[in-house]
Amino acid sequence: MDRLVCPPWVGYLLLNPLRKLLENPDKILGRFVREGMTVLEPGCGMGYFTLPLARMVGPKGRVVAVEIQGKMLSVLERRARKAGLLVRIELRHAGAEGLGVEDLSGQVDFAAALHMVHEMPHQSAFFGEVWKALKPGGRLLVVEPRGHVSQHQFEQTVAAAEKIGFKPEAMSSKVGGRESLLTKPPA
Ligand SMILES: C[S@@+](CC[C@H](N)C(=O)[O-])C[C@H]1O[C@@H](n2cnc3c(N)ncnc32)[C@H](O)[C@@H]1O
Repeated sequence: MDRLVCPPWVGYLLLNPLRKLLENPDKILGRFVREGMTVLEPGCGMGYFTLPLARMVGPKGRVVAVEIQGKMLSVLERRARKAGLLVRIELRHAGAEGLGVEDLSGQVDFAAALHMVHEMPHQSAFFGEVWKALKPGGRLLVVEPRGHVSQHQFEQTVAAAEKIGFKPEAMSSKVGGRESLLTKPPA
């Protein structure tokens, strides 16, 4: 599986408004996100999904956006400030050791890993971190690009999440690439 990290020039391409025709953030995420929620978005890039998430959680919610590349975060910060949404978004710089979300333990209602799991060198460790951050009953949506991730690779990814304890949930409609909704069962 390709472990290359998406370069910043691709980050700019991912902000193209035409992307909405194929991947509409409201359609993909609006089913799961409610006002007041705490949402975790690892691998947020320049924030194609982060700004819509911040609108969905409203003034009482927050989005914790985690990125390994400073350039992605600085562009996202500028875009969020311009949109008046920075107050709802917490930007975090991930390190080689992981996402750095230990302090969120049991606080996250919903996590969205969008086109990023295939870039993670240790998927089990990644799912373990998200698992700890989620509340019991919390959900993780994983979407992977068909172009980079085969069906077999995607099945391996879902299996790694299941090993941690996640339960795949049936989805009434799928949008975009390879997609799985995973639940941390209620305690
Ligand atoms: C293909 S981009 C997708 C960006 C965004 N989710 C989107 O769909 O527009 C994948 C992102 O994951 C980030 N990433 C890769 N490895 C990471 C890691 N270990 N921790 C946090 N972010 C990571 C990359 O820097 C990149 O911005």
